[in-house]
Amino acid sequence: MKKYQSLTGMNDLLPEQARHWHKLENTARELFHLYGYGEVRTPLLEDTSLFARGIGSESQVVQKEMYTFDDKGGDSVTLRPEGTAGVVRSYIQNSLYAQDAITKLYYMGPMFRYERPQKGRLRQFHQIGLEILGTDSPQADSEVIVVLDRLIQKLGIKNYTLDLNSIGTAEERAQYVEKLKAYFEAHKNDLSEESQNRLNTNPLRIFDSKLREDQKICKDAPLILDHLGEESQAHFAAVQADLKAAGVKFNINPKIVRGLDYYEKTAFEFTSPDLGSQSAIAGGGRYNKLVEELGGPNTPAIGFGLGCERVVLLLEQLAAEEVVQNGVYFVFFDEASHQKAKELTQMCRDAGVRSELGYEVKSFKSQMRRANKFGFSHVALLGEDEMSKQSVALKDMLSGDQSLVSWDELLNKVS
Ligand code: HAM
Repeated sequence: MKKYQSLTGMNDLLPEQARHWHKLENTARELFHLYGYGEVRTPLLEDTSLFARGIGSESQVVQKEMYTFDDKGGDSVTLRPEGTAGVVRSYIQNSLYAQDAITKLYYMGPMFRYERPQKGRLRQFHQIGLEILGTDSPQADSEVIVVLDRLIQKLGIKNYTLDLNSIGTAEERAQYVEKLKAYFEAHKNDLSEESQNRLNTNPLRIFDSKLREDQKICKDAPLILDHLGEESQAHFAAVQADLKAAGVKFNINPKIVRGLDYYEKTAFEFTSPDLGSQSAIAGGGRYNKLVEELGGPNTPAIGFGLGCERVVLLLEQLAAEEVVQNGVYFVFFDEASHQKAKELTQMCRDAGVRSELGYEVKSFKSQMRRANKFGFSHVALLGEDEMSKQSVALKDMLSGDQSLVSWDELLNKVS
C-alpha cells in the first residue's frame, strides 16, 4: 500500500504549532481592527495574466515559481504567489474606490511559490498582509510600518531589524537604472553568471546576490537614494519623521530592492537574525501604478506581507526559552516513595497547584528530564533520607536552590 506524504514544501499544521498560529492571527486581527482595517478574502486561484501583469513578467516569482496550469475549460490559472495582485483585482472588480476615497484592507491565507524548500521557505506558505489604497500620503507609509512593528512587538519578538529605502518613482528609477547598468557593465567580467543575466533583465536585483564576488562590486555601485527627485526625497523624509515620532527603530538601507516589480518610493523589509538564511519576516512598499496597470482608476497604494511560518518559527524559539511555569514535579525512587509522591501530587492538584509524577519507578535522570520538558518551577525529591524525615528535597528549577521542606509545609512553598 502506498504511503502517502504531503507534497514537498507543503506542511500539515499540528496542534502543538496551532497555538502559535492562533496567537499570531488573533493578535493581528485585534491590532488591525484598532487601526481601522477590514478583512478581504480573495480566491486562491486567479487568472494567470493578473500576476504576470501585476508582479511583472520578468520577476523571478512569475518566471520560475508560479503554480500555473490550464483548467478544464482551457483557461490558464495560477495559485496566488502573493496577496496584493488579488486584493487589487478585487478592489477594482467590486468598485471599492467608489465607496470611500481610502480603503484599508487586510488578509490572511496560503500563498504558493515553487521554490526550493528549506527552513522558513515553503511551497505553500501563509501571509498576513495589509494594504491602504487611495492615498499617496507618507502618513499611510508610516502607518503600515508602525502597525507591522507593533504586531511583531506584541508577539514578544525582540531580535529584529527594519530596513527602509526609497526606490523613487518609475521615472527616477529608470534614470538611475541606466547609471547602474553602466556601472555593472564596466565590471561585468567580475560578476557572477546569475548577476550577468540580471544585468539585462533587472540590474537592481544584483543587489540581492549573496555571492562574495557580486557583493564586492555592489559596495561601490551608485545608490538610488542619491538619485531621488525633490518630491520623493520629501516623501521619504516625512515617512522617517513619522516613524521616529512613533518610536520605530529603522536602518536606511539603499540596497533594499524587493523581488516584485510593482514597487516605487518606499520599500522596506523586516528581518530577524534568529531565522538563518531566510531571514525576512515581512516586506512591503508603495505601489502607485498597480491599480491603474490592472485596469482600475489611478490609485496610489502601500502595503506589506508578513510570512507566518517565519514568525511562528520565532514564536517557537521564544516558547522554548519561556520561563518555567509554577508547579511541582515529584521524583521518587521506590514503591514507598512512589506511594507518598502520589498522595502529595493529589494534595497539590486539589489545592490548584499544577503537579505531575511518573507512573512507575524510573531513573533519577529520566524523571528530571520530564520535569524539565514540562517546565516545572519546582522538583520535589523523595529519597530514603527525605522519607525518614517526612520531607521532600525541594529544588527551585530557576535558581537551582534546594532545601528540605516538610510534607505539611510543601503547599505553602509552592502555591
Ligand atoms: P514578499 O516579500 O514577496 O512580498 O513576501 C512577503 C513575506 O512572505 C516575506 O518577507 C516572507 O516572510 C514570506 N515569504 C515569501 N516567500 C516565502 C516562502 N516561499 N516560504 C515562506 N515564506 C515566504 C509580497 O508578497 C508582497 N505582496 C507584500 C506586499 C503587500 N507589498 C505591498 N503589499
